[in-house]
Amino acid sequence: MTSLERHFPRLEDFAPLLKPAPRERDSTKRRLAEAHNIWDLRRIAKRRTPSGPFDYADGGADGEVGLGRAREAFTDLEFRPGVLRDVSKTDTSTTVLGRASALPFGLAPTGFTRMLHSAGERAAVAAAARAGIPFSLSTVGTTSIERIAAIAPEARKWFQLYLWKDRDLSLELVRNAKAAGYEALLVTVDVPVSGNRLRDQRNGMTIPPRLTAKTFLDASYRWRWWFDFLTTEPYSFAFDTTGRGSTSDLVRRLADPSVTFEDLAWVRKAWDGPLLVKGIQTVGDACRALDHGADGVIVSGHGGRQLDRGPVVLHILPEVVAAVGDRGTVMLDTGIMNGADIVAALALGADFTLVGRAFLYGLMAGGEAGVARSVEILSAEIERTMKFLGVSAIDELEPAHVRLMSRRGPVGSQNS
Ligand SMILES: Cc1cc2nc3c(=O)[nH]c(=O)nc-3n(C[C@H](O)[C@H](O)[C@H](O)COP(=O)(O)O)c2cc1C
Repeated sequence: MTSLERHFPRLEDFAPLLKPAPRERDSTKRRLAEAHNIWDLRRIAKRRTPSGPFDYADGGADGEVGLGRAREAFTDLEFRPGVLRDVSKTDTSTTVLGRASALPFGLAPTGFTRMLHSAGERAAVAAAARAGIPFSLSTVGTTSIERIAAIAPEARKWFQLYLWKDRDLSLELVRNAKAAGYEALLVTVDVPVSGNRLRDQRNGMTIPPRLTAKTFLDASYRWRWWFDFLTTEPYSFAFDTTGRGSTSDLVRRLADPSVTFEDLAWVRKAWDGPLLVKGIQTVGDACRALDHGADGVIVSGHGGRQLDRGPVVLHILPEVVAAVGDRGTVMLDTGIMNGADIVAALALGADFTLVGRAFLYGLMAGGEAGVARSVEILSAEIERTMKFLGVSAIDELEPAHVRLMSRRGPVGSQNS
């Protein structure tokens, strides 16, 4: 056995090790620098956000099984790397709906975003504009269509529409979005009723949150959230109602469970830009949406917030892509927590992806800088994964780069 040669510890050897690292003076930057992936941002978000709003964003429907499965599908897949390719330069940009996006993902529409952090949609659209990626405003967003357009006139902006009982109100929103320069309409079709969000019910979640003894206690160590909430303007919705009450109350009042594919016709007539149907979960419905005039579909499980235990979006993606062919655009969301997840979805044929919670955790962790940190983390993960796969451009990704696997059994035709 060899033995180490030792000497007595010398001051000149360890003195340089004692030098403190330069301290970042900006506390937000300091906090965000602690986050190395989206799960780290989630941890910071949880620390800083009252539990009602945090659970509203973090939670899913019923047993939250669908959300878990969607994330698990990304975890379970296997990448096929490619070595000895020149990947010194990697181009993460792509074209979606005829225009460039610096990264192959955009920010998904999310309702009540200012409840998570007072900067809400304003922070998200500004960060999206800076990163050169699209931002989507929800019908139940907490900043108006016009305000968002004024904050980031240069941003690519998409508007998400619910088909309300009040059709005139829906049409008015479509017209307002057009006038304000929004480029695409995402028609969300998976909310005939609100999902059964048990966390919200247990928290007694209302909009805006009520100050009860429990929330006071919760606020005692999340004072910054309450300070921002009480010192910034009240929420103003994209639609023109006061919208107070629980989220399910709101959906019950406004949602129309009687809408059908035929209703896409009047939306199509009112909107001459790209129209995508969001919330498609079967091949048949993807084809039906295109037959009724859509320019594309968003394969989405609504982040596991609506039907629990619906199809795992990543698993149905290849079949949807094959059925749609070149008839339209296919996007995917639900469960994306890592840039590598995005790379996998693109390899399996998605043209583009959307992220919901991945940017909301950043928002809760640090406002606009936090959203920017989310985008930065996802972007670095995309670039790194592309290099490992041996590709230098998004359109070089192909199904052979990914093998779908599931701990529960066969996936699609690949394993059968
Ligand atoms: C807090 C929250 C609010 C949401 N609100 C809406 C909405 O108003 N309209 C909509 O079409 N989708 C909404 N979604 C779904 C997202 O657009 C997207 O489909 C989902 O977040 C993707 O899953 P992910 O969070 O795992 O990325 C919401 C999602 C979250 C997390």
